[in-house]
Amino acid sequence: MIKNVERGCFITLEGGEGAGKSTQIRHLAERLKERRLDVLITREPGGTPGGEAIRQLLVNGDTGRWQPMTEALLHTAARVEHVHKVIEPALSRGVWVISDRFADSTRAYQGAAQGLSVETVDDLQRLALGTFAPDLTLILDLPVTVALKRTQERGTAAEDRYERMGHSFHERLRAAFLDIARNEPSRCRVIDASGSIEEVASRVWTTVRDALIP
Ligand code: TMP
Repeated sequence: MIKNVERGCFITLEGGEGAGKSTQIRHLAERLKERRLDVLITREPGGTPGGEAIRQLLVNGDTGRWQPMTEALLHTAARVEHVHKVIEPALSRGVWVISDRFADSTRAYQGAAQGLSVETVDDLQRLALGTFAPDLTLILDLPVTVALKRTQERGTAAEDRYERMGHSFHERLRAAFLDIARNEPSRCRVIDASGSIEEVASRVWTTVRDALIP
C-alpha cells in the first residue's frame, strides 16, 4: 500500500537587490533540516534547465533590452517550468521548498518598478499558475542606499542588469514589496534585513517557526 505523504510547505523569500536572501535561505534550510525536514533550495528566474536559460536573457545585457511585458512573459514562462517540473513534485513528496524569489518579484519589478499594472501582472500569474501560491513569503526589507552599498561591496559585475536600473527604480521596488505585504498579511511577513547575518537569521527563523511549525 502506498503511504500518504504529508505535503511540504512552500516558502518564498523576496526583496530588492542586496537584501541578503541567498544567505538567509541557507541559514533557514539548516534550521529546517535540524527539524528533520527534507528541504529543497531553488531560485527564480531559474530552477530548471529551461528556466536557467531564460535567466540568462534577463539578468545580463542592456537595461532597456526588453519591453516590460516581454520581461514579465519571460519570467512567468520560467516560473511555469519551475512549478510543474520542480516545486509541485517536491511538495507532493513532502519536501519543503524554499525559493529565492517567485511571483511577487514580477509584481514588484515588472509591475510597480517597470510600469505594468497590478491587474496585468496578476492576470498573467493567474493564467500561468492558477491559484498556486506560496504558503509563506518573507519580504526582506532594507533601505535602498544600504542595499545598493551591499551589492557594490559584493562587487560581481555578472548578472547585474537589474542592479543597474537606478535609485528611483529601487525605491519603487521597495515600496511595491511593502504594499504586497500589506495587501496579503496572511501570506506575507516583512523582515527587517538590517543588522548582522545572525540577527536577520534569527528573525527569519522565529517568523517561519511561528507561521508554519506546529
Ligand atoms: P536574483 O539577483 O535575486 O537572483 O534575481 C535575478 C533578478 O531578476 C533580480 O534582479 C530580480 C529579477 N526578477 C524580476 O525582475 N522579475 C521576476 O519575476 C523575478 C523572479 C526576478
